[in-house]
Amino acid sequence: MNRIVRSLAWVAAGAAAGVAWAKLTKRKQDAGTAPQALRHSGTRTIETDRLILRRFKVEDAGAMYHNWASDPEVTRFLTWQPHVSVEATAELLEDWEGRYENGACYNWAIVLKELGEPIGSISVVDQNDTLRKAHVGYCIGKKWWRQGIMTEALAAVIKFLFREGYQRIDSRHDPNNPHSGEVMKKCGMKYEGTLRNYDWNNQGYCDACFYSILAEEYQEGGHCL
Ligand SMILES: CC(C)(COP(=O)(O)OP(=O)(O)OC[C@H]1O[C@@H](n2cnc3c(N)ncnc32)[C@H](O)[C@@H]1OP(=O)(O)O)[C@@H](O)C(=O)NCCC(=O)NCCS
Repeated sequence: MNRIVRSLAWVAAGAAAGVAWAKLTKRKQDAGTAPQALRHSGTRTIETDRLILRRFKVEDAGAMYHNWASDPEVTRFLTWQPHVSVEATAELLEDWEGRYENGACYNWAIVLKELGEPIGSISVVDQNDTLRKAHVGYCIGKKWWRQGIMTEALAAVIKFLFREGYQRIDSRHDPNNPHSGEVMKKCGMKYEGTLRNYDWNNQGYCDACFYSILAEEYQEGGHCL
């Protein structure tokens, strides 16, 4: 009789453990599911006071090449080499155009309204859908530096991406390129720390200063989503 009771106790304990395990697994699955799905509406046109952020077209090759992509001063702290010809730029743009079919592609040409052509780019260079986080990179031609243009573009992209459902937007820069960090700060991003030899750019290995902004602090700052 004792043996039967002990067996039943084992069965009950096993069942309880099974239920607990199922609950734990379910919680893990719930936690692993993004509480709010990303919209992934892709690179939609965004308008600000001075700018139109829109998709790149192959026809932008001349402007892209001349306004920023061929300038070694622009690419000094970037990972890509200055473009060698308008044809090379056109080839890249052809590839970029194809990528817009993917709703998760966020890659804007920064068009200065008064000029009517692109002067730079801003894009999501890395993203994680499960964690709903996006990493942003940007550049503009030297002629337009220090006029608040990237601050205007990044602020607009941050708003757009939070509306897409991201909960964290981050970016990073080489400590030898501190102006980029100033743009991030002006857009409400917070400095998180510097990782040693985290990156490589046209200057070689470099540290990376990380900045981020969270959806909740964006809203706390009085912004509506
Ligand atoms: C870094 C870069 C994007 C800045 O864009 P920008 O449009 O010139 O930046 P903003 O005019 O919005 O400047 C924002 C703040 O950054 C600082 N800053 C930007 N450029 C500066 C400069 N040349 N000298 C001193 N401070 C500067 C200022 O604090 C400025 O605010 P303020 O003008 O109110 O004082 C631009 O210089 C660039 O494209 N550089 C080459 C590519 C690159 O480095 N990309 C970033 C890689 S991480």
